[in-house]
Amino acid sequence: MEGAEPYAAIAKRNFEQLDLQVSVVIGLFQDTLQQVLQQQSKIDFAFIDGHHDERATISYYKQLLPFLSNNAVIVFDDIAWSEGMKRAWHYLCNDKCIKTAVSLFNVGICVVF
Ligand SMILES: C[S@@+](CC[C@H](N)C(=O)[O-])C[C@H]1O[C@@H](n2cnc3c(N)ncnc32)[C@H](O)[C@@H]1O
Repeated sequence: MEGAEPYAAIAKRNFEQLDLQVSVVIGLFQDTLQQVLQQQSKIDFAFIDGHHDERATISYYKQLLPFLSNNAVIVFDDIAWSEGMKRAWHYLCNDKCIKTAVSLFNVGICVVF
């Protein structure tokens, strides 16, 4: 999922060159995430690396929750990028659905119940 069309086009080209079957969804996460989630079976792994804003990050996490498989892994990039992202990471570390949270300074890895 990518909001900027030129970046999405590069990603699509890379996936094709690598012969990977990956769907590229263009649009703002705010507009596309719910629809993408509704089309998925249970999600084992999610990588969030965009819209690095405290409220947005927590919102995307909450939207993902009902769609995750047991012991799913979510990786959050740029968790130290701003004070807001640091607060978002703090929120995640204390959320009751997160079993394990590991900070690699810029990257946060969470295992979710
Ligand atoms: C730090 S880059 C990471 C891109 C990719 N994960 C990578 O490593 O090359 C963040 C990306 O998120 C996209 N982005 C930022 N806010 C977004 C939003 N609200 N909806 C969709 N995409 C967004 C930007 O266009 C940018 O390409």
